Amino acid sequence: MGMAFSPKAFHPLILLLFSLVLVSHLSNAQTNLPIVPGLSWTFYNTTCPRVEAIIKNRLTQIFQNDSAQAAGLLRLHFHDCFVQGCDGSVLLDGSASGPSEKNAPPNLSLRARSFTIINELRDLIQTNCGRVVSCSDIVAIAARDSVAWSGGPNYSIPLGRRDGLTFATRNETLRNLPPPTSSAGQLLAALAANQNLSATDLVALSGGHTIGFSSCFSFRNRLFPTQDFTMNLTLAGSLRLVCPTNTTTNFTFLDPRTPRLFDNQYYVNLVNREGLFTSDRTCSPMSGLVTLLIASPLISPCFSRSSSSRW
Ligand code: HEM
Repeated sequence: MGMAFSPKAFHPLILLLFSLVLVSHLSNAQTNLPIVPGLSWTFYNTTCPRVEAIIKNRLTQIFQNDSAQAAGLLRLHFHDCFVQGCDGSVLLDGSASGPSEKNAPPNLSLRARSFTIINELRDLIQTNCGRVVSCSDIVAIAARDSVAWSGGPNYSIPLGRRDGLTFATRNETLRNLPPPTSSAGQLLAALAANQNLSATDLVALSGGHTIGFSSCFSFRNRLFPTQDFTMNLTLAGSLRLVCPTNTTTNFTFLDPRTPRLFDNQYYVNLVNREGLFTSDRTCSPMSGLVTLLIASPLISPCFSRSSSSRW
């Protein structure tokens, strides 16, 4: 088996999110962008030319029944790429060598259904093409299709990621996936040290919180024992209805205004002090970039598409 890409080589994820924001209108021109050595725009052209169509067809059926699965698949890609690079290691089960990355605390709140969807897609692809497509590529394509289905851009993805044979330890996983209670300084320090990412990258990537759910557990630190004074009072009031005590196990939307749309509402929320997590709050001081993202005409057209023309 080939080796996994190093943590510093997960540019596809950055390309994924940030290009959505800044170059999403260039969809064909994206294939001219520089890519990490080992990846290619034509990787499966001879061995599995229909791989992207197979994934898209199956995901269309899944999302038509349950569009919330899109958020789970996007988050799975992020959790895969931040630990050991985009190598599919988050998918591995534990072994005699220890508990899996999948069982480390940050990954326990990934949707179980996300894992079964990836297994289903892998089986479908293997039936059609044999064992030629890596699971990490399947996860990357599924994340792109999730963004596109949710109204975001349908960007091109260079392929050829190799699946890792080993998973990260609990501590390594914790180090690479900071908790939502992280302060601005902690988050930026962790991203700079582990992923070589900047504050700008962080703001762009956090835009993934424009879709999906969170459990009360992930933001209860902002309500109990005392309310975070930086949080919008109306938001805090409605969160208290969902999570009346610090042991409530309910869920709420990350972006309550357009929870299923991949749009720039997340950034509008930040400016209004309506980010859900302490870590979201990190983005607010970088308001220059946030304001740019709110106003960007490059992303707006994507969000006016109707659900019938999603792809
Ligand atoms: C920067 C640090 C980040 C932190 C601390 C963080 C933390 C979290 C937490 C705590 C949840 C809710 C988990 C739960 O309680 O169920 C969540 C959900 C989510 N995150 Fe993040 N996240 C980060 C970055 C990202 C990035 C980079 C993306 C994607 C580009 C992303 C995409 C999502 C999505 C789509 C959900 C909703 C998942 C669902 O509905 O199943 N997050 N995140």
